[in-house]
Amino acid sequence: MNRKTVPFSYQFEETMRQLGSDGLLLAATKPSGGSNLMTIGWGALGLVWGLPTFVVLVRPSRFTYEFIEAAGEFTVNVPTPAMSDMVLFCGSQSGRDVDKIARFGLRVSRGHTVQSVTLDACPLVYECRVVQKNDILPGSLDAGILARFYPGGDFHRAYYGEILGTFAADPE
Ligand SMILES: Cc1cc2nc3c(=O)[nH]c(=O)nc-3n(C[C@H](O)[C@H](O)[C@H](O)COP(=O)(O)O)c2cc1C
Repeated sequence: MNRKTVPFSYQFEETMRQLGSDGLLLAATKPSGGSNLMTIGWGALGLVWGLPTFVVLVRPSRFTYEFIEAAGEFTVNVPTPAMSDMVLFCGSQSGRDVDKIARFGLRVSRGHTVQSVTLDACPLVYECRVVQKNDILPGSLDAGILARFYPGGDFHRAYYGEILGTFAADPE
C-alpha cells in the first residue's frame, strides 16, 4: 500500500477510539523472518523523553512477546471496520496454534524504518523501535488493578516504542 509520512498525532482520536473498542493490531518480525500479529487494547501514544512514543503492554504468555523480544521493534496497525472479524480472531487465537497472517491471506510489507511488517490493508501504521521495556510490578501496583487484571500473574511487559515513522494512506 502506498502511504505517506504523517505526524505521529495524525488521527489521534480515531486511533484511541479503536484502541478502546475493537483494538489495534500489533505486529513484530523476528530477525530470522517469522512474523506474528496480536490485537491490543491497551497502549499510550504520546511523548516520552521528547520522542514520539507508542507504549504497548504485552503479557509474557503471548506468542508475540518472544517476537518483540527478538526483534526489538514492532508496528501498530490501525484496521478498517471491515477487518473487525480478523481483529477479534487475532485477539483470541495464538500464533502458536495458527499462522494468523496466512489464515486471512493478509498482505504484508516490511516497514520503511523497521524490519517488522505492516499490514497492507491498514490505512494508518506506526513503526516503532523499543527504547525501554519494563515489567508491571505487583508491589507498586494499585491493589484494585492487581486484583482485577492479574489474578493469575502474567504481568505485562511495557514496551516503549519510539515511533520512527507514522504512515497513512490518502492523508487529508
Ligand atoms: C480487544 C482486545 C484487546 C487486547 N489487548 C491486549 C493487550 O493490550 N495486551 C495483551 O497482552 N493482550 C491483549 N489481548 C489478548 C491477545 O490479543 C490474545 O491473547 C492473542 O491471542 C495473543 O496472540 P499471540 O499468542 O499470537 O501473541 C487483547 C485481546 C482483545 C480481544
